[in-house]
Amino acid sequence: MRILVTGGAGFIGSEYVRMLLGVPGGSAEGVPGWEPSRVTVLDALTYSGNLANLAVVADDPRLRFVQGDIRHAEVVDEVVAGQDVIVHFAAESHVDRSIAGAGPFVSTNVLGTQTLLDAALRHGVRRFVHVSTDEVYGSIADGSWTEDWPLAPNSPYSASKAGSDLLALAYHRTHGLDVVVTRCSNNYGPYQFPEKVIPLFVTNLLDGRTVPLYGDGGNVRDWLHVHDHCRGVAMVQQGGRAGEVYHIGGGTELTNKELTGRLLRACGADWDRVTPVPDRKGHDRRYSLDITKIHNELGYAPTITLDDGLAATVAWYRDNRSWWEPLRKAPAE
Ligand SMILES: NC(=O)c1ccc[n+]([C@@H]2O[C@H](COP(=O)([O-])OP(=O)(O)OC[C@H]3O[C@@H](n4cnc5c(N)ncnc54)[C@H](O)[C@@H]3O)[C@@H](O)[C@H]2O)c1
Repeated sequence: MRILVTGGAGFIGSEYVRMLLGVPGGSAEGVPGWEPSRVTVLDALTYSGNLANLAVVADDPRLRFVQGDIRHAEVVDEVVAGQDVIVHFAAESHVDRSIAGAGPFVSTNVLGTQTLLDAALRHGVRRFVHVSTDEVYGSIADGSWTEDWPLAPNSPYSASKAGSDLLALAYHRTHGLDVVVTRCSNNYGPYQFPEKVIPLFVTNLLDGRTVPLYGDGGNVRDWLHVHDHCRGVAMVQQGGRAGEVYHIGGGTELTNKELTGRLLRACGADWDRVTPVPDRKGHDRRYSLDITKIHNELGYAPTITLDDGLAATVAWYRDNRSWWEPLRKAPAE
């Protein structure tokens, strides 16, 4: 099978590529119908894309890397030709950056996705997996969202992801393109750019610095290890029904304050290292996904507990300073 992974040099996309190529400890064994693949990565290498994320598979002859932008129709057309499946991770992904400037979010997440969908249609791609997020639903006080819940995004990031998510589904309904959409909760794990809360806090604590806690720290997120996210995407790629949305989650719900407490303990630090900062504008209070559908239809359940996953993640950042130190020094774009 020939698979195009967009955004394959980012945090989650690179985990998917390592999994597709069967890196020890990261393989997709146990995903029904799984077969080795030829993998093309299309990635613009923005500030969050990093070839070091693919270093362990760089010499694999089944991998081809193309540096290119999903908004550029010519590059996209050349890369999409001959692919069986597209798994679409490429996006501007950081909510705070979308508050500072929404332009790149709309152009990459919405127009870039449309450019890919058009190319998929033109070249008869057999399946288009669109990787979306639980943030498209907005915020939920009690209970959990099911896949038929109305979308009500609150940040420019989540609004642009909702636009691309709905466009992908529209290409199924309008053109009959085989599209499946996944909506996942918050991911953590190795190779996550150190602007996101877990790697930001861990790398600050490892460096003896303080960590910024938004508002009252009461915002709730469901934390899922990136490998469990990618296993879910692989199951949907293999067995999901065309035109359907699947939730991937089922990690552990924690307030930001509880998460901070766990990270402080894991890094051997105290609460005097926490600096309260004003809340993020439009900050969603709580996300929560119902994962009954993917569990019943595809047999999905997460495999990595938060305790094990966080311990391994902190250990990874402790052991891989050479990966994150240059990124901490990069000027903000
Ligand atoms: N991180 C999470 O917790 C989470 C949760 C649910 C869904 N998602 C979704 O998963 C996907 C991947 O997220 P991530 O956390 O790995 O993000 P990331 O920022 O680490 O990676 C994004 C990748 O996309 C590439 N990219 C950005 N703009 C591009 C463009 N115009 N053309 C080509 N490549 C481009 C970047 O270079 C980078 O390699 C995104 O679609 C995101 O919305 C993320």
